[in-house]
Amino acid sequence: MSNKYTFPEGFWWGSATSGPQCEGTFNKPHKSVFDYWYEVEPEAFFDKVGPGVTSNFYNSYKEDLAMLKEIGLNSFRTSIQWTRLIKDLETGEPDEDGVRFYNDVIDETIKNGMIPVMNLHHFDLPVELYNKYGGWESKHVVELFVNFAETAFKLFSDRVKYWTTFNEPMVVVEGQYLYQFHYPKVVDGRKAVQVLYNINLASAKAIKKFRELKCENNGGKIGIVLNLTPAYPRSNSEEDLRASKIADTMFNYSFLDPAVKGEFPELLVELLSKDGVLWESSEEELEIIKENKIDFLGVNYYQPRRVKVKEYEFDESKGWMPEKYFDYYDMPNKRMNPYRGWEIYPESMYDIAINIRDNYNNIPWYISENGMGVEGEEKYKNEDGSIQDDYRIEFLEEHLQYLHKGIEEGSNCFGYHSWTPIDCWSWSNAYKNRYGYIALDLDTQKKTIKKSGKWIREVSKNNGF
Ligand code: GAL
Repeated sequence: MSNKYTFPEGFWWGSATSGPQCEGTFNKPHKSVFDYWYEVEPEAFFDKVGPGVTSNFYNSYKEDLAMLKEIGLNSFRTSIQWTRLIKDLETGEPDEDGVRFYNDVIDETIKNGMIPVMNLHHFDLPVELYNKYGGWESKHVVELFVNFAETAFKLFSDRVKYWTTFNEPMVVVEGQYLYQFHYPKVVDGRKAVQVLYNINLASAKAIKKFRELKCENNGGKIGIVLNLTPAYPRSNSEEDLRASKIADTMFNYSFLDPAVKGEFPELLVELLSKDGVLWESSEEELEIIKENKIDFLGVNYYQPRRVKVKEYEFDESKGWMPEKYFDYYDMPNKRMNPYRGWEIYPESMYDIAINIRDNYNNIPWYISENGMGVEGEEKYKNEDGSIQDDYRIEFLEEHLQYLHKGIEEGSNCFGYHSWTPIDCWSWSNAYKNRYGYIALDLDTQKKTIKKSGKWIREVSKNNGF
């Protein structure tokens, strides 16, 4: 049978997870902000399931990676945990067991025919650095991150060709400093803006280090993974359009522009300056951001953002917030994923592809996460115990169709990674919603391929569907 949708040669058919969401905390020399949060407030996590064991990847990576090969994946992203690799957080000196573990994971990934993509920060700041320095509020922490990155590059860049500095840095800003969904649940617009700047700086400085170490001589490339939530206006009125432009600027372009173009969006700087909350920066730092752009981009796409011009008066009591400039628009009849409470809108895949083509130099990019979280999947098990997740296959195919259209029209997309290969732990949602091609039984740690796992094997084999 020939494909209806064929993807470019060498296309990545992969899947992504992260260290804190699959490894478990076994043998880590430090605690992350999530490890600590769970200790002090276990009830904040769904069913009080914490990061201690998760999917046991620390112990079962060999079997797990063999299963990824079995479902046909040709590439795999995970992250190197700062709290596992680094023994001395000030100097960046590595921990022996951390080195052994990540060496094994990388070798085993390659042995199973998959390209390893290694990310350095997936929300998992060492909590000591928050307590001592205020975490990402501090430029000293930026330097410590660069030390960690340097250690990782030196140890692994002989085999790892694709690196990313941060995963969804905007979620750190939103969750930790604006909307209180991640520890330390601060609400402080000014700090949020400084954190946004400092993480952009940290990414650029890590890229600078990567190039000083000449990792590109080994064929190495470095990028960043951003969650793009395209803003759509309620109507085409000038006011709604402006509201959506501002939402895009604050949540998407505030990382995308510095990463790809080396500069913050003018509109962002203008609004933050007018409101008296602009970050502290120096000429030298801005030069580093300008000079150290990414080689490639990873895009996590889950949901769009619907907005309209402000109709409700801005609540000043919490200080500066992005919502000063727009209201959320509850669009009637939107398609929803009821489990996750997120709108389903596959058309965005095309819009993102075209935006990158036209406004971001058509930089090489890939979908680094996309997927559907579903609660209570056991009820879809067939007689042999395998989950029949047709809804997931449908979701992924629809998204891939729109991506394919963008590629046909010239967008430079080289791959598609779903979230996630094996059901893994999701922050405060823990194991509520499952996303994997492979189901995890939390009680027994038994892992079973779902129908979607068989589907992706075919898609990968045929380079399309
Ligand atoms: C993303 C995040 C992942 C995963 C996913 C599904 O925003 O990068 O870590 O949790 O959501 O919830």
